[in-house]
Amino acid sequence: MAVREIKPNVYFVGSIDWQRRIFDELIPLPDGTSYNAYLIKGKDKTALIDTVDPTKESELIENLKDAKVSKLDYIIPNHAEQDHSGTIPKILGLYPQAKVITNEKCKNMLKDLLLIPDEKFTLVNDGDTISLGDKTLKFIFTPWVHWPETMVTYLVEDKILFSCDFFGSHLATSSLYAEEGENLLRAAKRYYAEIMMPFRTTIVKNIEKISPLEINMIAPSHGPIYRNPSFIINAYKEWISDQVKNEVVLAYVSMHGSTEKMASYLTDLLIKEGITVKPFNLPKSDIGELAMAIVDAATIVIATPMVLSGAHPQAVYAAYLVNALRPKTKFISLIGSYGWGGKFIEQLKEMMGNLKAEIIEPVVIKGYPKDNDFKELERLSIEIKNKHKQMFDLQK
Ligand code: FEO
Repeated sequence: MAVREIKPNVYFVGSIDWQRRIFDELIPLPDGTSYNAYLIKGKDKTALIDTVDPTKESELIENLKDAKVSKLDYIIPNHAEQDHSGTIPKILGLYPQAKVITNEKCKNMLKDLLLIPDEKFTLVNDGDTISLGDKTLKFIFTPWVHWPETMVTYLVEDKILFSCDFFGSHLATSSLYAEEGENLLRAAKRYYAEIMMPFRTTIVKNIEKISPLEINMIAPSHGPIYRNPSFIINAYKEWISDQVKNEVVLAYVSMHGSTEKMASYLTDLLIKEGITVKPFNLPKSDIGELAMAIVDAATIVIATPMVLSGAHPQAVYAAYLVNALRPKTKFISLIGSYGWGGKFIEQLKEMMGNLKAEIIEPVVIKGYPKDNDFKELERLSIEIKNKHKQMFDLQK
C-alpha cells in the first residue's frame, strides 16, 4: 500500500502483486505484476480510473482512505476484465453515490461479469469529455487492446494517457516510473507477446488514433508509468510493423532423442548460415519466452515425435499458441520422427491456419536420423537460408 502523487492531485492508488506467478491460469508471470488504479481529485469532482484485482481489494480501499477520499463521484473502467474492474462492486458499496462512467460495450460486460446494476452507469461515446472542475477527462475508444470494449482515458490538462492494458507490462516494482532499459523492454515485450500480439492490426489503428494527443506520460494499469512515452510507443511500432528479424524459433519436444537430434542438427546448420536460432525444448520452456521469441522471428519450426497417430501434445500446444498469437512470421516448417506411422504434418498445418506464412517442405523421418535424413535437414536449412537471404544480409 503506497499512495503516490504522480502530478498535482493525481495519485497512484493501485496494488503491487509481488507473488503472482500465473495469469488467467495460462500466462507465466516471472516478475509478478501490478494493478494500477489512479485517483484524480478535481476542484469539483473526484474520479477513480480502474480498480484492482479482487484479491487486492483491501489495498485499494486502504489507499482511498489514505488519500482521504470521502466522496467519490466517478469510477472509470477502461476495461471490463476483472483484474481492473473486479473491485468496482466493492467500491460502489463504499461510495454508493459514485457513477460508473464507461462505454456501452464495457457496461454490458460489467453487468454480465460483475452483476453491476444498470442504474449505476453513465455512458460515454468515443471522444466525449467530462469535467472534474479544473481537470478534464477525455475518453478514446481503443477496441481490442485487449477486449472489444477497451478504451483509454486522457487527462487533458496534465497530458496523461491512462491506457489500462495498452502499453502495460507484468512487472512488480517499487519504482513508480519506468527505468528505461533492457529489463523493462523485455517485460513490455513479453506482455505484448502474450496479450497484445493477436491484435496487431488493431493496435496499428489505435496508435494512429492516439497520435494527435500530446502525451507527457503514459500511465498503464500494469507495470511502471512512462514519463517518456516515445520509449514504449516506438517499441510498439517496431513490434507491430511487418518487419521480421533474421531469426528462426525452433520449438521442439522429443521423447527418446530422435527429434532432439534433428532439432540440434538443424540448429547448428542454421547458425552456420548466419541465422540466429532460438531453440525451445517445450516441456522445459517458459511459454512466455516462446511467445516473446515469435514476435519478430522470420521463421518458426516446430519439431515433434509421433505420439499414437499425431503430434506430441506439447507440439500441439505450441502450434495452438502460435496460431492464437498470430505472429508476423513469414515462414513455417515442421520436422519430426515416427516409429510406425501417423499424420502430424497435416494435423499441425491445419492447426496454424491463422498464419499468413509460407510453409517450407517439412522433414519427417523414421526412427533415429540417418544419412539421408541429415541430408533432408540440410535441404531444409538451405531453403530457410535462401528465404532469409531475400530479406537479410546474412553475416556468418
Ligand atoms: Fe489487465 Fe485485459 O486485463
